[in-house]
Amino acid sequence: MPRELRKAEPFKIKAVEPIRMTTRGQREKAIAEAGYNTFLLKSEDVYIDLLTDSGTSAMSDNQWAGLMIGDEAYAGSRNFFHLEKAVRDIYGFKYMVPTHQGRGAENILSQILITPGTYIPGNMYFTTTRAHQEKNGATFVDVIIDEAHDPTARLPFKGNVDLSKLEDLFKKVGPDKIPYVSLAVTVNMAGGQPVSMANLKAVRELCQRHGVRLFFDATRAVENAYFIQRREEGFKDKTIAAILREMMSYGDGCTMSGKKDNLVNIGGFLAMNDHELWQQAASLLVLYEGFPHYGGLAGRDMEAMARGIHEMVDDNYVAYRVEQVEYLGNQLLQAGIPIMEPIGGHAVYLDAKRFLPHIPQTSYPAQALAAALYVEGGVRAMERGIVSAGRDEHGHEHVPKLELVRLTIPRRVYTDRHMDVVADSVINLFEVRDQIHGLKFVYEPPVLRFFTARFEPV
Ligand code: F0G
Repeated sequence: MPRELRKAEPFKIKAVEPIRMTTRGQREKAIAEAGYNTFLLKSEDVYIDLLTDSGTSAMSDNQWAGLMIGDEAYAGSRNFFHLEKAVRDIYGFKYMVPTHQGRGAENILSQILITPGTYIPGNMYFTTTRAHQEKNGATFVDVIIDEAHDPTARLPFKGNVDLSKLEDLFKKVGPDKIPYVSLAVTVNMAGGQPVSMANLKAVRELCQRHGVRLFFDATRAVENAYFIQRREEGFKDKTIAAILREMMSYGDGCTMSGKKDNLVNIGGFLAMNDHELWQQAASLLVLYEGFPHYGGLAGRDMEAMARGIHEMVDDNYVAYRVEQVEYLGNQLLQAGIPIMEPIGGHAVYLDAKRFLPHIPQTSYPAQALAAALYVEGGVRAMERGIVSAGRDEHGHEHVPKLELVRLTIPRRVYTDRHMDVVADSVINLFEVRDQIHGLKFVYEPPVLRFFTARFEPV
């Protein structure tokens, strides 16, 4: 019997960027200088950088070639029209404005639709998305299924909306008080978990019945489409492109961080079908981002994003992308490391509560674990727990059920050999986990504190 061919990366490497391994002593010094916050490390001191998959993708030769045909006109740039066409053809929305990144789109959408005293239901929050909603006077209401908050619940679509929670909110506050429903596909804070097509459809119907708009956070919608293809009845023979189009057809528009699915280092957009809404967005855009034909981006950036939008729906690419995440996650599971299950689309999440049961959540176990992992293997990860959750308007800390460390895989950047090194580092650290101590704040910024906070060991 011939052996079944193993799969390798669906690309070959044309340019390389050297990376440097440091000594443990150098890393101990670097993390102390960074206030035990991996955001404050110098990237040159990092061996394998899994801080985020945002803006860290490797562009293709075709995207790099696109940079050279950047039309840097203030208005009417050809690259804007390429981007607009890509959004129409691949996502299916009629109108769009480019933004410098995802939160630029969130800012515009929140400002045009939200009035003070309203409610935004969503399937678990994302930091910047919720911050913009709250800044405009809305209260965010989490309507995700309960199991999403349990890192051990193995459900195929753990990002789903609990329809009864959503319906209850419609009844309780009335649809007039709900400017739109905010639906993330996949759900970053839940571990990169997908939403099923059936659930999307049901949310759509509920919204329509109450005359409420539905906006997607489409940041990682391609990865969500992959999970639908693999896990949901009736989609196995459909292409990623077709599944994505169907998903988006249930919404009124989306905010997008091009720095993820779209395979670029910077960029985003806000898309919609309603012409009047687009006009409102375009007029605010001038104030915050730039003229509607560039919105905070260079012409070349828009070209790279337009090309990335076409590349991202290649079925082989998407399968490789998600399977690399699974390749890392499965090694950790086999070694008995507590991780969020099932493994998500863009990252493997260590469950800090089970990894470090001796550290109370108020001593920031996930923050401490991320710092310790850097010292162990030069691997940079990100806290996604109580530090990221921040404080409410009364100054009390939000205490999330999930206390996670995210090992986020950049797209097309690292090989599976790098994933082996990451797995070894985590497994070695797990052996000596009782030597890891909790942390306390020495500097705590008022908003999005996780970015620049400083800590010291308790
Ligand atoms: N929505 C989701 C689901 C995100 O993950 C992000 C960014 C944004 C919106 C905001 O987009 O960064 O382009 O302004 N997530 C990054 C991360 C920062 O590391 O998860 P942005």
